[in-house]
Amino acid sequence: MPVVALLNQKGGVGKTTLSIHIAAELAANARVLLIDADQQGSALDWAAQREASAGFSVIGFPKPVLHREIAALGNGYDWVLIDGPPRVNELARSAIAASDMVLIPVQPSPFDVWAAKDIIDIVKEFSIPKPNLETRFLINRLFPNTMLGAEIQEALASFDVPVLANAIRNRTEYAKAARAGLTALETEPYGQAAREIRAVVEEFTALLNGAKEVKKIHVAS
Ligand SMILES: Nc1ncnc2c1ncn2[C@@H]1O[C@H](COP(=O)(O)OP(=O)(O)OP(=O)(O)O)[C@@H](O)[C@H]1O
Ligand SMILES: [Mg+2]
Repeated sequence: MPVVALLNQKGGVGKTTLSIHIAAELAANARVLLIDADQQGSALDWAAQREASAGFSVIGFPKPVLHREIAALGNGYDWVLIDGPPRVNELARSAIAASDMVLIPVQPSPFDVWAAKDIIDIVKEFSIPKPNLETRFLINRLFPNTMLGAEIQEALASFDVPVLANAIRNRTEYAKAARAGLTALETEPYGQAAREIRAVVEEFTALLNGAKEVKKIHVAS
């Protein structure tokens, strides 16, 4: 039961949007639990919008004892995802302690790059107690013709945390689907958004299975 947390102390970087989409993709052939660790309850609100089951379970657990409860909560699931809150450091610490992998969504702007230091500092506290923790940046809302993959990779290099080779573009499909309590995997199963989510899931699943890093950033057109 791998546990993957989407964390960033900065608000609005895509933690909830990506958690929901990644959970939906994994749920195509596994039992998936999405833990909403944010007091705002955005993932729970999303689930409440739905008419049909999401194909995965969503529960709220915005408490800094998640690491103690994760085994019990995740019992019977193949994957657990944690949608983290912005700002609350104790919740982020508990989510990291509960996780095998931390994905840090970051938008390709200098502000997001600077703000990433906050979550990286917290992740680094775990380098001794959790030496096997896998941490990756996940570039979100990449715009064509703005700060490109190579530039943001360079800007993030100072943090000494690898960047997932597959990036997510800015696509209205993500927001549109989420507003209706859906995912882009449902609204456009063969669209570009669905494709790039699949690529991200494939990549981090392979990394958790011991694959080597892919260096080049891939972006679906
Ligand atoms: N790849 C994307 N393309 C277009 N819009 C996106 C993308 N990712 C996120 N968004 C939009 O950005 C906004 C913030 O996303 P989201 O709520 O997922 O961020 P968050 O990190 O969970 O925020 P918070 O810190 O408040 O929990 C939402 O309106 C969402 O629809
Ligand atoms: Mg959120």
